[in-house]
Amino acid sequence: MATQEPETNSLVTTEVSSDGTGRESRPDETVVSTRDLDVYYGSDQALDRVDIEIPEHKVTAIIGPSGCGKSTFLRCINRMNDQIDVCRIDGDLSFHGKNVYDDDVDPVALRRKIGMVFQKPNPFPKSIRDNVAYGLNIQGFDGDIDARVEEALKGAALWDEVKDQLDSSGLDLSGGQQQRLCIARAIAPDPEVILMDEPTSALDPVAASKIEDLIDELVEEYTVIIVTHNMQQAARISDKTAVFLTGGQLVEFDDTAEIFENPDDQRVEDYITGKFG
Ligand SMILES: Nc1ncnc2c1ncn2[C@@H]1O[C@H](COP(=O)(O)OP(=O)(O)OP(=O)(O)O)[C@@H](O)[C@H]1O
Ligand SMILES: [Mg+2]
Repeated sequence: MATQEPETNSLVTTEVSSDGTGRESRPDETVVSTRDLDVYYGSDQALDRVDIEIPEHKVTAIIGPSGCGKSTFLRCINRMNDQIDVCRIDGDLSFHGKNVYDDDVDPVALRRKIGMVFQKPNPFPKSIRDNVAYGLNIQGFDGDIDARVEEALKGAALWDEVKDQLDSSGLDLSGGQQQRLCIARAIAPDPEVILMDEPTSALDPVAASKIEDLIDELVEEYTVIIVTHNMQQAARISDKTAVFLTGGQLVEFDDTAEIFENPDDQRVEDYITGKFG
């Protein structure tokens, strides 16, 4: 993978990490941003003038009551909503400053950079190896596919459990393993951002906790944007939290600790403390 040195900026103090990796702490770089983002399904508005700047190499949690537009927001980021005929988008949504809805953006190439993992694990009815290699094959990857498959399965904390059965069907794995397989499939093409829509809500607590640990590791290399209905999960795993409320408004976006301990908006406090939603 091409590793880019972070830009040094004389106004920002960079500290050399003490963990021996040589990685420097970086100023927050915005990877995905929106300005006045409106989304409609026919005449129904699902997102209402959303402004957000999502930082790189962080976990951003998206929370809010059912129907407030969380999945809609996630799908806008890698243009999955293109596939919904009645869906219309206004405003700006940028990836590294480039509007993803510009005419010259290829949605397939965009999805290679911004992968997605869904609520229900959805491996293809193919071998474990072919599931992970799927995106690489589509893009005509001509490197060492087996090495990339191994790397992705290791990155998804699944390698040790499946390394002797790469030719068996992905569908024969447990639910938690299937979800990690889907994460391996998402990271194999080496994306920058991984969108996750309630990735643990169909899993038992042990499998869910493995995915949470994995997210903590993934964020070293990727930016993770995760929708969750589970407040404890959002509080545990995310750096930033965005709270959407009914009507598709982004009501508050801040450091996760601020949102959970000291929210500005009374509606956010009510939602978090379970008074509504
Ligand atoms: N394909 C679609 N066609 C028409 N309306 C849709 C479509 N998808 C979502 N909507 C509507 O858009 C609004 C936001 O839906 P969305 O699925 O984004 O909410 P959500 O916050 O993810 O909800 P949940 O927590 O239940 O998953 C809802 O009113 C929903 O009915
Ligand atoms: Mg949803």
